[in-house]
Amino acid sequence: MEQPVTLSENWQAFVEKCKNCHACALADSRQHVVIWRGGVRAPLIILGEGPGADEDRQGIPFVGRSGRLLDLLLTSCGFKPEDYHICNIVKCRPPGNRVPTREEAAACRPLLKEQLLFVRPAVYLLMGATAFRYFTGSEEGISRARGIWTVSNKCHIMPTFHPAYVLRDPSKKIYLWKDMASVRQKLEELDLVQPLQRPS
Ligand code: URA
Repeated sequence: MEQPVTLSENWQAFVEKCKNCHACALADSRQHVVIWRGGVRAPLIILGEGPGADEDRQGIPFVGRSGRLLDLLLTSCGFKPEDYHICNIVKCRPPGNRVPTREEAAACRPLLKEQLLFVRPAVYLLMGATAFRYFTGSEEGISRARGIWTVSNKCHIMPTFHPAYVLRDPSKKIYLWKDMASVRQKLEELDLVQPLQRPS
């Protein structure tokens, strides 16, 4: 009798498909396709813009300065790696860290859609104007949109600032932290993470 195909075999096949992707010209200059870190299935998806130089070198999202800030904030909000799945609008580094074009984002979208079927997140944290614009289609500025929950297809969506922006303007760190704390609260309300022990 044939063995049932497990999630992890399917996930491995998906990873291989990503590694072989040549849907846009970003494939020509990449060192690695940057797919995810955290849990494959997770209640929270964290979406950034695209890999930078460190991520391209290591093949893992958010491992540079922005990633270190992100990890600090995730830990301070009580998140564990199995609670989240981190990925980007595009899986290959745009040369010189430019913003991915609309065409590049569109070329990457089928893989992102497929990825979401594995993750099955209930909550989305969209970090930065690019993730917000390309994911929602909204033209609203991130400074106005951040911190406000919307619901789409039964998923809860929180836009926030990108950690790289916060590194450039540390006065904005409090907003990124507040939005992440709000995400934690939402996941607790939905019973998707253990409530944190808070001082009474
Ligand atoms: N910035 C992003 O948007 N994504 C990364 O993976 C790293 C930096």
